[in-house]
Amino acid sequence: MPQAITVEDLNIYYGDFLAVENVNVVIEPRSVTALIGPSGCGKSTFLRTLNRMHEVIPGARAEGTVEIEGQNIYAAGVDPVNVRRRVGMVFQKPNPFPTMSIRDNVLAGVKLNNKRISKSDADALVEKSLKGANLWNEVKDRLDKPGMGLSGGQQQRLCIARTIAVRPEVVLMDEPCSALDPISTLAIEDLIHEMKEEFTIVIVTHNMQQASRVSDRTGFFNIAGTGKPGKLIEIDDTEKMFTNPANKQTEDYISGRFG
Ligand SMILES: Nc1ncnc2c1ncn2[C@@H]1O[C@H](COP(=O)(O)OP(=O)(O)O)[C@@H](O)[C@H]1O
Ligand SMILES: [Mg+2]
Repeated sequence: MPQAITVEDLNIYYGDFLAVENVNVVIEPRSVTALIGPSGCGKSTFLRTLNRMHEVIPGARAEGTVEIEGQNIYAAGVDPVNVRRRVGMVFQKPNPFPTMSIRDNVLAGVKLNNKRISKSDADALVEKSLKGANLWNEVKDRLDKPGMGLSGGQQQRLCIARTIAVRPEVVLMDEPCSALDPISTLAIEDLIHEMKEEFTIVIVTHNMQQASRVSDRTGFFNIAGTGKPGKLIEIDDTEKMFTNPANKQTEDYISGRFG
């Protein structure tokens, strides 16, 4: 079985600016990888190259290889829309479609992918996805109410339900809890833990406790100074990264001696 994600010699640009330099990393299926590091070191930029969302920014491009389950998503002829179905993304701020019902929010990605789906299949998919996002019990009696009527934490779980409804292989999360209260944050962390039975998860977090709670592996990005590219300094088992990292920069960062 191929690795879930294999990144080789990846350089990421905004126009002429090299934002992230020479990333090489292998991520195993059904694992949670946390990406940590100071603001501006390229965590979000790197994450967006894993499903070809980076290139939607004018002038933005990536050079190198990203394989998702054996397929180089940057090879000629690969459809980025299909890549984004296989590699879903959850953002910092929950972004349900405001005018849509809870049910239609869950189905939105499926419909965008032009899938025709019967009412009974849709009902089953809505239930399965909301259960998968630990939200079903809270919303099953109001599926036709607007998604915007939910709390922030519920909205984020609704966005996760929408993401997993298209059956992706990989789910990317960019600081998914940073707009949430502590209770909602723990609910998302529990969910991430359950999700890895089915999905490969890569999560950017500025919260090191969160990284150590949810992830199997942790990658540390750093930047040498303004205008310099971000680099993946070290990636290893989370426990090792937080107790005995190989690199001095990692040690300084995790022990708060940064800057
Ligand atoms: N849309 C953009 N256009 C140009 N530069 C950008 C854009 N987004 C991010 N950058 C730059 O890329 C670098 C990495 O940013 P980012 O990936 O957002 O870092 P992080 O997520 O680690 O805080 C920064 O220097 C940032 O200013
Ligand atoms: Mg970011």
